[in-house]
Amino acid sequence: MLARLVVILALCLVTPAAARADEKRVQLYAPRVLVDSGLLKYILPRFSLKHGVRVTLVEDQTAADMVLGEAGKALFQGLGRVWRMQIRSRGHKGTERLAAWLQSEVGQRAINSFAPGGTALFGPAEEDAPQEVALTLDGDAKLGLKVSRSKCSRCHRVDDRRGIFGIGSTPSFAVLRSLADWQERFSSFYTRNPHPSFTIIEDITPPFPENRPPPLVPLEMTVEELEAVLAYVAGIPPATLR
Ligand code: HEC
Repeated sequence: MLARLVVILALCLVTPAAARADEKRVQLYAPRVLVDSGLLKYILPRFSLKHGVRVTLVEDQTAADMVLGEAGKALFQGLGRVWRMQIRSRGHKGTERLAAWLQSEVGQRAINSFAPGGTALFGPAEEDAPQEVALTLDGDAKLGLKVSRSKCSRCHRVDDRRGIFGIGSTPSFAVLRSLADWQERFSSFYTRNPHPSFTIIEDITPPFPENRPPPLVPLEMTVEELEAVLAYVAGIPPATLR
């Protein structure tokens, strides 16, 4: 009985400490060319010193908490390609901290300042741009009205129904419909301000950067729903502009 209690007590004391130690170690995998460039040896000690998290390079991708390579979020470019980061241990504190640091201004500055022989080898990656896709007008207009009411009427007046006015300064769908290039504007609305900061179109827009979550309730929709909105807007009588 006593022995059992001691074991339980010991477990209680040891486990959190072990977990804490583990949170402060990150196993990182990077392809040989990147390791050989010297970049990691240059930047990682800066991170470790600041955050008390040790980063060890591992040869085996499957054992790594984070993998640098071709998949995931773009971090920087150099050596003829864009380098991306994939987090394999989600929720692991040390790994999340390293990920945040690599994307932060301080981390990016460290990457950009690596210049063996006086030449910078790495620079910022271009933002992942959302893909533009060709959309058709033969979507379901009825569904389009429903989607517009539920997802756009927070800000836009989308139809004549009384009581739904959207935000006064935001153009109504009828006004937008009267513009010659309305179709182009609606097809790509998710790339036009203010929408990119809060809009996700399934399979088209890249996920929000982890360090920049949307400031508003996100607007999520599918390509099918967007085509439905287009079909609905196509049928709106254009507003007479005075
Ligand atoms: C949180 C508020 C908000 C929501 C939600 C919203 N919009 Fe907008 N939208 C705006 C504002 C504000 C503008 C005007 C921007 C400007 O004039 O610079 C705008 C402009 C537009 C334009 C014209 C863009 C241009 O560059 O000409 C289109 C098209 C559009 N919205 C479509 C939509 C559709 C479709 C939805 C729903 C799926 C939607 N919006 C949801 C705020 C919103």
